[in-house]
Amino acid sequence: MAMISTEQINEIRKNVDIVDIISSYLPLTPKGKNFFGVCPFHDDTNPSMSVSKDKQIYTCFSCGATGNVFRFVMDYENISFPEAVKLVAEKAGLNVQIDVHTKQKHTAHLEPLYEMYELSEKLYQNNIHTARGVEAKKYLSQRDINDDIIREFGIGLALQQRDVLTKLFLSKNYRYEEMLRSGLVIKNDYGYLDIYCDRIMFPLWDITGKIVGYSGRIYKGDGNFKYINTKETEIFKKGEMLYNYHRAKDEARRLNTILIMEGFMDVIRAYSVGIKNAVATMGTAVTKEHIVLLKRMAKNIVLVFDGDAAGAKATYACANELLAVGITPKIVRLEENLDPDEYIKKYGKEKFLRKVDHPMNVMDFKISYLKEHRDLTSNEDLSLYIHDVINELAPMNDEVLKEITIQKISKESGLDEEFLKKQVEEKSLKNRGQASTSLKKEKQEVKRSHMSKYTLAEQNLIYYMLKSPEVIKIYDKKMTYMPTEVYRFLARNISYYYKTYHEINEADFISFLGDNQVLLDALSHILMLPLKETYHLEEIEDYVRVIREYNVTYEQQRLKRQMETVTDPLEKAQIAQKIIELKVKGE
Ligand code: UTP
Ligand code: MN
Repeated sequence: MAMISTEQINEIRKNVDIVDIISSYLPLTPKGKNFFGVCPFHDDTNPSMSVSKDKQIYTCFSCGATGNVFRFVMDYENISFPEAVKLVAEKAGLNVQIDVHTKQKHTAHLEPLYEMYELSEKLYQNNIHTARGVEAKKYLSQRDINDDIIREFGIGLALQQRDVLTKLFLSKNYRYEEMLRSGLVIKNDYGYLDIYCDRIMFPLWDITGKIVGYSGRIYKGDGNFKYINTKETEIFKKGEMLYNYHRAKDEARRLNTILIMEGFMDVIRAYSVGIKNAVATMGTAVTKEHIVLLKRMAKNIVLVFDGDAAGAKATYACANELLAVGITPKIVRLEENLDPDEYIKKYGKEKFLRKVDHPMNVMDFKISYLKEHRDLTSNEDLSLYIHDVINELAPMNDEVLKEITIQKISKESGLDEEFLKKQVEEKSLKNRGQASTSLKKEKQEVKRSHMSKYTLAEQNLIYYMLKSPEVIKIYDKKMTYMPTEVYRFLARNISYYYKTYHEINEADFISFLGDNQVLLDALSHILMLPLKETYHLEEIEDYVRVIREYNVTYEQQRLKRQMETVTDPLEKAQIAQKIIELKVKGE
């Protein structure tokens, strides 16, 4: 992370106008106090994005995207926060020294590795178009991969001799130590040798499009290792890359949809028929890093894994990973155990697209997945199946989907709907009892109960804290504890920010939150609430009172529960005393 101070960031932000910067990306039209444009972060034709000159923030009323000038540039350009700050400063012609290349300075020792990959790529690509590449080309053409695709995806060939690349590196004065670090050369009893021989070479890129590894495929007969991937190196981290990310991201953003496939061959096939918004996980589980990349690209995430049993299992696992972070993916299942590559070849682009355009919802997929290989006429299997479905339903927030699913399985199993509902409720209570108060859960909690008066009070308080130091001071003096964890963090951060910088506004505070997506989401939700611009002091005091009341009630309930469990009369009396004290305090 580059060293930019908060002061420096705020200074830059104050010297630019968000309206000018966004106008450099898309047309904005003035309407009343604000400017309006077509939101670039979801598929839209209506001008649903408003840009406020006063507040220096943008808000899309359709997809909920919101932020300050840096966040807009970050998300539009797909760059990091320091890079966005630098770009904004440059666009505004501000002469500031921002060192976003700190990372690269530290990584000067990686330069040779990148260069070696560029060299190897040239060599491999050259090989495939020579006489010794005839057989490889024949293999590719049998798989319907023509010269255009070979060039587009940089496909090459490692020859049978095992020292071609090593010799090339030597001739360019690379050291053996560097060759080993690149993951392209190994050392054994015979000396230093190329890792890859006699394989078709598929380059793998990092998210910026730099080649950092390979997957090498056998193309003569059936060997043991169909693909050999470069080992993890300083520049190649499988868990941080998605195959084809750098090519797919713009199209994915345009369509607001990203297709995730298992194999890179699937992605290449899709691309060759004009479906350019696909990436591949390359057989690994989705990681946190993947999720960050996916979220930046599109709202709709469609899993199009292989049609076989392994693909169904991977889909199930991947869907759960995504659901755990609040993303609800859509699912496509392909018949006859086909993978997307085979499916497109057999049935054509149109039929494939029809499936992608009409994906399954994740619950329907899960139900059919849980049913697979079970004989629902057997009581045992049926019971296992129902239990599994209940486990899936219990943590779900979507009450409508829950209801629909319960109706379905009630019909299917002959079990009473009320009975099933009760089972789901009990399960969900049990889960909640066990659940730790993680931020994520709190966030769901916020969604579920967002109409409760406590939550409204918290939201209002935070909203006006950002508008006026007067409210921050009231918060500092009177408020000890906001019930909802995300709001508690937000309020504390606002108070801290004001203490440190002696002024506050929405736009600078957004910069301050940096990459903390959970807090940013909670904040943007609050900023979008249709609240008045001004407030009365009595209202603020009312919010504080409501929250304190909640705290007292909550504590009372806790104590009452505690009292039920103790048997010692003295202890009981002490708790009763505490409850009475709380009551007095609350009034
Ligand atoms: P698949 O076996 O589904 O690949 O593995 P595929 O796309 O159908 O390959 P073809 O059509 O036979 O050429 C999916 C992904 O898992 C990884 C690869 O990245 C592949 O794209 N994989 C598979 C390996 O790393 N090694 C293997 O031996 C097999
Ligand atoms: Mn395949």
